[in-house]
Amino acid sequence: MSSVIVERAGGFRPRVGVVLGSGLGAFADEVAAVATIPYAELAGFPATTVGSHAGRLVLGTVGPTPVAVLQGRAHYYERGRIDEMAVPVRALAAAGCEAVLLTNAAGSLRLDMPPGSVMAISDHVNFTGQNPLFGIQGDGRFVDMVDAYDPALRRQLMDAARAADVRCHEGVYVFFSGPSFETPAEIAAARVLGADAVGMSTVPETILARHAGMKVAALSLMTNYAAGLVPGALAHEQTLAVAGEASAGVRRLLRRFLEAFAA
Ligand code: HPA
Repeated sequence: MSSVIVERAGGFRPRVGVVLGSGLGAFADEVAAVATIPYAELAGFPATTVGSHAGRLVLGTVGPTPVAVLQGRAHYYERGRIDEMAVPVRALAAAGCEAVLLTNAAGSLRLDMPPGSVMAISDHVNFTGQNPLFGIQGDGRFVDMVDAYDPALRRQLMDAARAADVRCHEGVYVFFSGPSFETPAEIAAARVLGADAVGMSTVPETILARHAGMKVAALSLMTNYAAGLVPGALAHEQTLAVAGEASAGVRRLLRRFLEAFAA
């Protein structure tokens, strides 16, 4: 599977993998691309069913850093398969990536993180009871999850945010299955559990990446207050609208982080 990437890109060896979440796909334009490959041409890569997820692998550089950008992800809720991202994440590791930067749109559980805020994930709560390593044999499956979100990379994210003039919070991300949004009672429970942000992605990729030996950095863009925090209903359209508005700052932050990675 790695050979496909390496072959298609003439021996190009990425150091960082990037997964672009809802509304953030346009960051791929920041990459000086050497190859762009639709997932459909990559065996085992998922078909993406969410409109804003393009389903392309973009190989190239951001400043001095060679990167492999997954423009769009598949989620657990799309087909009820928790290991949808196993092949892409392992392909990044096999192609030479030492780290992955995961991005997502999320709901905020904190009134001091209004829509448009950015949060570096420091830890997660997996509320689904599902694990992408189900069925894997051998002791390698007992993956350590202490500092799963690499503290040094998180500092680099915070430094990049400062350099990009973007305020960046730190906090805990709770993973719900979706695709229905959470109930206000579920969000009240998640607050008791210590969550700062809620979403339907990223956690399976973090587990897969740690299993594959890559370091993980992760960034959430708050697109709404989580259910029940403020009056009113939740809508996917708001996710896309807010992600679009805030994406300039996030783009600067991601660019700074990736430029500094190989510097
Ligand atoms: N809940 C779950 N996932 C989300 C949300 C939310 O409120 N906002 C964006 N993705």
